[in-house]
Amino acid sequence: MGAFQDLGCRTTHCNSEVLQRCTLVFLATKPHLLPGVLQEIAPAVTRDHIIVSVAAGVTLQTLQQLLPAGTKVLRVMPNLPCVVQEGAVVVARGSCAGEQEAALLRSLLSACGLCEETPESYLDIHTGLSGSGVAYVYLFAEALADGAVKMGMPSALANKIAAQTLLGAAKMILETGEHPAKLRSNVCTPGGTTIHALHELEKGALRATVMNAVEAATMRARELGER
Ligand SMILES: NC(=O)c1ccc[n+]([C@@H]2O[C@H](COP(=O)([O-])OP(=O)(O)OC[C@H]3O[C@@H](n4cnc5c(N)ncnc54)[C@H](OP(=O)(O)O)[C@@H]3O)[C@@H](O)[C@H]2O)c1
Repeated sequence: MGAFQDLGCRTTHCNSEVLQRCTLVFLATKPHLLPGVLQEIAPAVTRDHIIVSVAAGVTLQTLQQLLPAGTKVLRVMPNLPCVVQEGAVVVARGSCAGEQEAALLRSLLSACGLCEETPESYLDIHTGLSGSGVAYVYLFAEALADGAVKMGMPSALANKIAAQTLLGAAKMILETGEHPAKLRSNVCTPGGTTIHALHELEKGALRATVMNAVEAATMRARELGER
């Protein structure tokens, strides 16, 4: 609370007071606490409110069931790089939220990075791809730098160059709009260094392993949501 006060935000310990003063309300408690909070605020929710949940695994159906009929509800799934305004956020709207509410949310959340509206069923896939995906990328960055350290580069420099390599490669995918396979093939000189390295990655089944990782995290997100 102190951090928000330092930013000049008004804070309160009373959830219904938030509902009285604001029409756009974000719910960002831990998922297991959310049903209690919904029960607490439900009497104060009107058709003017837009209720946005960030809680992983709490479905639109649950949110709508615990709030008065007709409430405009949306779900948002962010990822960690939102803290540096390079997040990947997806938004799904409930049955009573319209294009206007979705557009408002997309415009607000675009300050956090990329923001796309999707069907609710994509939210768990987004967790597998992007929420957890950040950790796969850190692992890859670490391995890239370790390879360079093994070949004699100091660790601090190797980490910096590995991160910039990921940033540059990602920016080229977004800015050129090219498929990654095309960009990758552009880097491969016949008989050159890159194709030799890619052959090693194929021997280690990098692509199948990463696909399995996205699948495992998505399945786990679905499992947690069903509890
Ligand atoms: N971090 C991510 O990248 C990410 C990604 C996707 C989804 N999420 C979701 O984001 C949510 C928050 O995660 P987090 O890691 O930020 O949790 P967190 O650090 O525990 O923050 C939870 C917040 O909820 C507040 N809170 C607790 N009980 C409350 C109540 N009864 N009424 C009102 N506010 C209450 C806490 O306030 P006090 O500090 O004052 O207690 C705190 O500000 C979770 O549902 C998670 O699934 C996070």
